[in-house]
Amino acid sequence: MTEIQPWWSNSVFYQVYPRSFQDSNGDGVGDLDGVTSRLDYLADLGVDALWLNPVMVSPMVDHGYDVADPRDVDPLFGGLGALERLIDAAHARNIRVTMDLVPNHSSSQHPWFQAALAAGPGTEQRERYIFRDGTGPGGLHPPNNWVSVFGGHAWTRVVEPDGNPGQWYLHLFDAEQPDLNWENPEIAEDLEKTLRFWLDRGVDGFRIDVAHGMAKPPGLPDMRNPDLPMLTLDDDDPRFNHDDVHDHHRGIRRVLNDYPEAVTIGEIWVFDNEDFAKYLRPDELHLGFNFRLVRAGFDAAEIREAIENSLAAAALADSTPTWCLSNHDVEREVSRYGDGDVGRRRAEAMALVMLALPGTVFVYTGEELGLPNVDLPDEVLQDPTWERSGREERGRDGCRVPMPWSGDRPPYGFSDTADTWLPMPPDWAALTVAAQDADADSTLALYRRAIALRHQRGDVVGRPVEFVDLAPDVVAFRTAGMLCVLNAGASPVPLPAGELLLASAPAVDAVPADAAVWLRLDDH
Ligand code: NOJ
Repeated sequence: MTEIQPWWSNSVFYQVYPRSFQDSNGDGVGDLDGVTSRLDYLADLGVDALWLNPVMVSPMVDHGYDVADPRDVDPLFGGLGALERLIDAAHARNIRVTMDLVPNHSSSQHPWFQAALAAGPGTEQRERYIFRDGTGPGGLHPPNNWVSVFGGHAWTRVVEPDGNPGQWYLHLFDAEQPDLNWENPEIAEDLEKTLRFWLDRGVDGFRIDVAHGMAKPPGLPDMRNPDLPMLTLDDDDPRFNHDDVHDHHRGIRRVLNDYPEAVTIGEIWVFDNEDFAKYLRPDELHLGFNFRLVRAGFDAAEIREAIENSLAAAALADSTPTWCLSNHDVEREVSRYGDGDVGRRRAEAMALVMLALPGTVFVYTGEELGLPNVDLPDEVLQDPTWERSGREERGRDGCRVPMPWSGDRPPYGFSDTADTWLPMPPDWAALTVAAQDADADSTLALYRRAIALRHQRGDVVGRPVEFVDLAPDVVAFRTAGMLCVLNAGASPVPLPAGELLLASAPAVDAVPADAAVWLRLDDH
């Protein structure tokens, strides 16, 4: 490959959940100066870039995914100055900084939505959102059967300025997150201002929230299956992936083209490869999150299929594949794979699989420590899903508990107060960064070695991945002079020939169950 590849095409991104990374001012919530103070840790881990979950001004109903002012940083996170300090300090260490961008909806506290409520039906202020009259006598019922991803109806009825119940507005997420009307050109114009505002301040790109949202089909037809479990999106769901969304991505790309070093990464919950690849056409997004590895169980066939499909989807658009095992919306992989020692061993093995693959990798806050999900008591739950689902779905708080840094009890160096925004478990002393620093066999040590070796392997961009059939319950593939072998079965498998570069568990002449190894291939 002679062409120079963009910086992101082989990068390891670290997803910082700012509330949970490091608190610098003792209020129990992480903030941007906290992130800055931990940059050496991230540099040591070997990451190339950060993705910050939303830090814009927000009432924090959905922890920042409800944006009231898209061109300022919330005081909770330290304001704009704190972001500028973080960008400078990260750049000084050669770490890029990307931000979350939320174009599908705003906060109900956004001045636009407040103006829409005050102006009443039929006004241009209402045209920035998706207001409709209800159905049935007196408009008593919602305009269609769409459900919110967080549970309940996707419509809320407003009280009109005359004091009577009136129109309904659409919100695919919480009622405090009204969907914007992307058919109104003002929305794209304002987003352009937002993009330039941050890019001009040195931000290196954006993770685009609900990138398969934004456009809604004309007439807003009913869902065929509104009873599907939440977050189980099917590819025929009229709420998402309407073809007009591609025009919006082209608009975003035209702005980004003025900043050729900046990247866009779409959150795309679309599983048809051809549909997924459309988002990655040369005039749309640079990268798309592919969630197939997140959805795969610890099962050789599922993992191989996830990898093959992720590669195939990226190849269709001649784009870079992306890999992640978790994020702030899903149960942590240690718990998904069985919790306890087994869950941790499997998560370590999967880290080696992910970090062997060509493309862009995303590591989520605390993943490198092997943190499990936390069972939190009802009274501390904050995710809007909990209430909206009628307290049936506990929501995503369990994967968002703050990072343990040091010490033997909460708040483990995360904050000066033990009253952290989510309580930290009493039994995390062995999981802290300090404890794992002192242990050469820790999950953290494995991540550090794997990322360092990945960097040393140099240019793995665009290298083919060739699967090898070694044994049942084994996933093995060669790429860029290396063989990665994952044993997802119950008994050890013989270690193939080759210099052992790295193993997630002791591997003398066999790859143990629930482990993975990297071997250098002689013929490279
Ligand atoms: C996807 C984000 O990752 C999630 O955390 C958020 O709740 C929804 N989009 C709504 O913005």
